[in-house]
Amino acid sequence: MTIENLQIPTVALGTWAWGDSGETGDGYFGSTLTKASLEDVADKALAAGFTLWDTAVVYGMGRSETVLGQVLKRFARSDYQLSTKFTPQAAGASENPAADMLEQSLARLGTGYIDLYWIHNPADVTRWTPHLIPLLKSGKVKHVGVSNHNLSEIALANQILGEAGFRVEAVQNHYSLLYRSSEDAGILDHCRNHGIPFFAYMVLEQGALSGKYGPENPLPEGSRRAETYNAMLPQLKTLTDKLASIGEKQGAAAPDVATAWAIAKGTTPIIGMTRPDYINGLVRATSMTLSSDEVAELEALADAANVNTRGWWEKEMRA
Ligand SMILES: NC(=O)c1ccc[n+]([C@@H]2O[C@H](COP(=O)([O-])OP(=O)(O)OC[C@H]3O[C@@H](n4cnc5c(N)ncnc54)[C@H](OP(=O)(O)O)[C@@H]3O)[C@@H](O)[C@H]2O)c1
Repeated sequence: MTIENLQIPTVALGTWAWGDSGETGDGYFGSTLTKASLEDVADKALAAGFTLWDTAVVYGMGRSETVLGQVLKRFARSDYQLSTKFTPQAAGASENPAADMLEQSLARLGTGYIDLYWIHNPADVTRWTPHLIPLLKSGKVKHVGVSNHNLSEIALANQILGEAGFRVEAVQNHYSLLYRSSEDAGILDHCRNHGIPFFAYMVLEQGALSGKYGPENPLPEGSRRAETYNAMLPQLKTLTDKLASIGEKQGAAAPDVATAWAIAKGTTPIIGMTRPDYINGLVRATSMTLSSDEVAELEALADAANVNTRGWWEKEMRA
């Protein structure tokens, strides 16, 4: 799918955990990432054709954007695309808080424009959406999408942008085997019917669906993600075992299958990339196919796990 001048990739690259790297990281993921290994991630990603990077001001309060900007410096700007976000809750008190937040992101990322700029959440759609219009007109923002918006909020944002000749060009919501509220609320259908790319975030539930973690080997102690997921790891074992066994038949691993599931559902997964070898997983995920029986089997096991992985920042998607 394309939105004018922006080819929608099969998979996008997430960098929330990059906010953990360096001294000012917020410890959300409990990851220890080095600039050298993130440079390897970028080298492998671009070589494999994965070029759209997703970040946000609030990932490590600027840290993720700064590190991403440093890592991508070695590449031509036309070789990659940037997606970052206007977060209403972090807006300052100036006359143009969105323009100011954008300028700071541009400086940290070392670029003159953002390919895809998101309104991070629907804090106040009527108040904040108009702030994106001058940014689009300036050319510093090429396309606007909305994140964590329900159907009526997507429609309202689209109407506000529409009055200025623009539109909501993409949607980004939490969507994984364990959290399908955007599908239940009709947002996936809406996007499909209107040709709007749907970006799925937290497809691997921050590693809990990767098969790498379990009751004996929990997520890093003290991290925010451990608080959310460690207690549910025993309930996820049957599902992660099934992801692994489906993958094995195609020379792939559990996280590759979870990613392939999101692709099979018509979405563009944004997968958090913390290690260079995870790029190989994306290559496998984008070249494998899941049968409709496998998709149904995985969804039944996910439902049977009976866990609620809604993020603390999210609300129910039903309008
Ligand atoms: N719009 C929003 O409100 C919003 C909210 C959340 C996320 N997002 C975006 O979506 C992106 C993805 O979400 P996320 O990063 O929170 O979580 P995620 O993609 O569900 O999980 C990422 C984690 O999974 C593990 N992983 C990834 N590939 C793997 C592989 N091949 N094998 C084994 N483990 C693998 C890594 O854990 P380890 O590092 O422990 O190995 C990684 O940190 C974010 O980075 C961000 O860009 C947006």
